[in-house]
Amino acid sequence: MLSSYIKSTGIYTPDNVLTNFDLEEMMDTSDEWIQQRSGIKERRWVTSSDTTASMAVAAANMAIESAGIEVDDIDAIIFGCLLSDYPFPGTGCILQDKLGFSEHVPALDIRNQCSGFLYALSIADAWIKSSMYKRVLIVASEIHSTSMDKSKSGRDIGVLFGDGAAAVIVEATEEKNKGIIDTTIHSEGKFAEKLTLMKPSPNDHDKYADIIKGGEAARDFFPHMDGKFVFKNAVTRMPQALKAVCERNNINIDEIDMVIPHQANIRINQMILEGLNIPLEKSHHTIQKYGNTTMASIPITLHDAILENKVKPGDLIAFIAFGAGFTWGASLMRF
Ligand code: ACO
Repeated sequence: MLSSYIKSTGIYTPDNVLTNFDLEEMMDTSDEWIQQRSGIKERRWVTSSDTTASMAVAAANMAIESAGIEVDDIDAIIFGCLLSDYPFPGTGCILQDKLGFSEHVPALDIRNQCSGFLYALSIADAWIKSSMYKRVLIVASEIHSTSMDKSKSGRDIGVLFGDGAAAVIVEATEEKNKGIIDTTIHSEGKFAEKLTLMKPSPNDHDKYADIIKGGEAARDFFPHMDGKFVFKNAVTRMPQALKAVCERNNINIDEIDMVIPHQANIRINQMILEGLNIPLEKSHHTIQKYGNTTMASIPITLHDAILENKVKPGDLIAFIAFGAGFTWGASLMRF
């Protein structure tokens, strides 16, 4: 039977490292507060040479090279980010051009925030299992630093997010016991405004004058987050999704060799793992060095785990994610 597996990974993270001490100079915060609340020590912020597309190209090229394939061996692109280079068109099309395809392969742009990688994986898996495509490139590229409020009023968000990109090649295989077993994905739009960037919006109509003058409406150009509410939902939804995907595949949680969770907050992940009786050693984290890179965080962390030899062929890997929307999901994969 045809299934799909992650053949290779690639990442790009900007060279510009910002430690918690650097942030102390910018806003009213402290290394102690950030580390205690989130586990983050440093993150990368782009410089003027990086764009969402340029970071995507760098990550994609690494994944393509590592897979030992050519660009034209790829049948389709799935691209995701929170903030695209242009409000439209999506960066997926720019990526199709910049990678140098000789064919007009489809480029699907998805908008599922921190759960985006699991949404993309489920689409790639379904495309491959239905024989529509043999090889799909998934890319996430995230620039947050340029649109954050770096003053005291934005510090709850400003310290958490980092910039970075990641790519994976998902390929068809007929090998038994290899590849994506199943993915579950969900959404709950009634909480959209608990974690959101409101503007620019086509609904602004006569508010533009206020925005241009820097009035009240200008605040909506910075992201807003109800941190405690997001935290509570994250620690509920991710284990729920993982249990559901395990149950419907007759897999016990203790059979999982490695959990690669979304990297929003180390405390969220510790709480989830503890609740599921999964030892911390069976998980991998990169939040300490990259912060929350939203959709890129799971593939960046998978790439890092592979580099550190923390996953080996045959291992049962679980991905779990939660993010704005709200959206969440879980996926099981035999590496
Ligand atoms: N530095 C110092 N103090 C700060 C900072 C900061 N960077 N940010 C907020 N504070 C202050 C607040 O002003 C508040 O002060 P007050 O009590 O005087 O009003 C206080 O710290 C809040 O502290 P706590 O209530 O203890 O904060 P909490 O433990 O809730 O931690 C945090 C806040 C880290 C945001 C947490 O709620 C969290 O991680 N939530 C989930 C966030 C998340 O996962 N987001 C990403 C989701 S994924 C996506 O799709 C984008």
